Amino acid sequence: IVFEGGDGSGKSTQARSLFRRLRRRGIKVLRTREPGGTPLGQSLRVLLKSGEPMTPVSELLLFEAARAQLVQHVIRPFLEQGGVVIADRFTSSTMAYQGYGRGLDRGLIESLNREATGGLEPDLTVLLDLPVETALARKGGGNGDTFDAAPVDFHRKIRRGYSALAASNPGGWLVLDGQRPPEELGREIWNKVQTIL
Ligand code: TYD
Repeated sequence: IVFEGGDGSGKSTQARSLFRRLRRRGIKVLRTREPGGTPLGQSLRVLLKSGEPMTPVSELLLFEAARAQLVQHVIRPFLEQGGVVIADRFTSSTMAYQGYGRGLDRGLIESLNREATGGLEPDLTVLLDLPVETALARKGGGNGDTFDAAPVDFHRKIRRGYSALAASNPGGWLVLDGQRPPEELGREIWNKVQTIL
């Protein structure tokens, strides 16, 4: 189960809340975040958020490298043991940020996503959608990393990208208004997840 959304969308809060609901019911569950989750992924995370100048293609390849490690060493083994994985960001983040945001070739990103995941796809992607200004204000101007500091227009492109991705596969996505109260969102997500489980 994947959580997606722009910076400040509240997806991490919802990912944690779903994690707790599943764990309370004795379901074997793991939460991951991208980039990160493996030693290499953690190092790449530091690099990617450092503000170090990099070309869009370099950025894309580093995100995909982090993902390949995470899927191979953490996500697949956990799924094979019958667990549920809650992923805070996955392949759609790359499509939204590097594809729609940075303007890189979306066919290329699709290929790299497939390569990095070995074709693994989510059973459900939850999108928390809200106006860019509201989301960025929530972050209090952000923590100044590469993406929080990007121009508002970049974040708008990402929001549009997510909407397009969700619209192209309505069955696979649950799109929610990120401005609704967190408890209410949590219940709706939980209802949907139960139908999948
Ligand atoms: P993080 O602090 O984890 O942000 P968030 O809590 O919003 O997930 O930083 C990850 C940043 O990296 C975030 O701004 C989105 C960006 N990102 C991409 O640009 N491409 C990707 O493929 C992924 C996974 C993340």
